[in-house]
Amino acid sequence: MHKLQSLERKVAEAIHWIEDFVFERRYQLNCSGYIENRKLETIHSAALPHSMAYQAVTCAAIRELIDEVEKTGIVFDHFIDLGSGKGKACFYAAMRFPFRKIIGVEFSEPLVEIARDNAARFGAENIFFVNADAASFCLPPGNNLVFLFNPFSESILKKFLESNADRFRQSRSVIAYANDQHRLCLARAGFVTLFRNQDTQGSLHQYITG
Ligand SMILES: C[S@@+](CC[C@H](N)C(=O)[O-])C[C@H]1O[C@@H](n2cnc3c(N)ncnc32)[C@H](O)[C@@H]1O
Repeated sequence: MHKLQSLERKVAEAIHWIEDFVFERRYQLNCSGYIENRKLETIHSAALPHSMAYQAVTCAAIRELIDEVEKTGIVFDHFIDLGSGKGKACFYAAMRFPFRKIIGVEFSEPLVEIARDNAARFGAENIFFVNADAASFCLPPGNNLVFLFNPFSESILKKFLESNADRFRQSRSVIAYANDQHRLCLARAGFVTLFRNQDTQGSLHQYITG
């Protein structure tokens, strides 16, 4: 039984690897690699100790969250990736839904440059990458689908939520959180969990007023 489960897991991993390979090849994207957090180059030095490593999300992880959020029936204006790295989540989102605007927020300039090169090859005119600390990023007005792939610690997330509290109150925005290590921070800020998969640790959260 144990051997069968282990074999199933290996087959699933191989399928995910092939899917990611095909996705990146199809759009000529360079999203590969792993960069330890202490090796990330950034001018936002105060945020560096709170950063996680760079690693691209898998298509499977973001697909699960987009499939679930579609069930809410909310029409989103923007897709925002906080800690966008080389941009993979933004390109996947663009492929799945005609967002008016897609913004990747990344605090490491070299990663922003790679994401912009990827965007030129991907060929969409509504995808933008900005070099900023997510803690001080202001959401645009409208319904935002805010994506996080475990980018940083609770303190950055808390600052982002505090400075965008009005935007969340005034819209039907949703936070899609892959590898949701600091999801309790969202509950403390007044968000309810719309969906969570305990196995993948992906979840969706929405601010509920009243
Ligand atoms: C796990 S990677 C996720 C990359 C991308 N979202 C994806 O799914 O492919 C986390 C990214 O967050 C970035 N990051 C960490 N702290 C940040 C901060 N305070 N503001 C903006 N980006 C940050 C890192 O440089 C890294 O590229």
